Amino acid sequence: MSGDGEHAPEAPGDVDLDKPSTARIYDWYLGGTNNYAVDRHFGEQADRQFPLIKPLAMSNRQWLGRVVRAALAEGITQFLDLGSGVPTVGNVHEIAPGARVVYVDYEPVAVAHSELILERQEAGDRAGIVRADFRDPDYVLDHETTREVLDFSKPICVLMVSVLHFVGGADNVPGIIRRYRWRLAPGSWLAASHITTDDAPAEGAAQISALAESYRDTQNPAWLRDKAEFTSWFDGFELVEPGIVHLTDWRPDSPEVLFPDLEPESVRPFYWSGVGRVG
Ligand SMILES: C[S@@+](CC[C@H](N)C(=O)[O-])C[C@H]1O[C@@H](n2cnc3c(N)ncnc32)[C@H](O)[C@@H]1O
Repeated sequence: MSGDGEHAPEAPGDVDLDKPSTARIYDWYLGGTNNYAVDRHFGEQADRQFPLIKPLAMSNRQWLGRVVRAALAEGITQFLDLGSGVPTVGNVHEIAPGARVVYVDYEPVAVAHSELILERQEAGDRAGIVRADFRDPDYVLDHETTREVLDFSKPICVLMVSVLHFVGGADNVPGIIRRYRWRLAPGSWLAASHITTDDAPAEGAAQISALAESYRDTQNPAWLRDKAEFTSWFDGFELVEPGIVHLTDWRPDSPEVLFPDLEPESVRPFYWSGVGRVG
């Protein structure tokens, strides 16, 4: 299910209330309220199909936080968050209050909510949101908001967190990544996380595969990839320690007790993660 020969659909035009959207479903997984009945209905079904989905979404969100803090520790103070979603918890500009941040999403509710948050928090000229399909790197990188907020002569951390499984094989993921990399200064980072079943127990693998099938009926069909394919996307980057690992193994910083009844190990096999540095 790698999506070879398949394109993800075009960017949504307006708010679509007939089909669930991954931005709003993910918001529901995280306990947010920026979702509609159609998204909640899908989310409830997903939760029954694969009961680890909510903790998995939360552990992905926590990984994003660890990456942002690690980038700051390396002196990177600029972030380009591609497929930033509905910012329910732990947004980059909140984790990194002094940083410059551009959010990019193509889902209208995600964009509207980001605009509201940035306005309310008076993020000013140090953070902005671009409504765009990140499969068009030139549009994103040349957008006036991107140019105003980010300084491309200095390192930028590009975040592709839990978004590439919504990009089809025919959309050419390595080509998209390359076109971002070409425009980045040395020392920049690319951070990505992606759903997988490689090391999953049979029951979990079957459940998440069935869930990926269900996403075919949403605005955002999803594809699973294996470690070899995910790793190949970092060609041309130096891998940052600890390399390509399950995201719970990427620089864990504290025991995260979010779901007290859950074995922390249970979510481990379902995501690959990695950070590459531009040399
Ligand atoms: C599962 S959410 C992930 C949100 C956030 N990156 C995180 O990990 O917490 C996926 C987001 O990617 C967005 N997305 C998917 N494909 C996209 C594309 N081609 N261009 C822009 N946004 C996209 C969706 O609208 C959604 O908000």
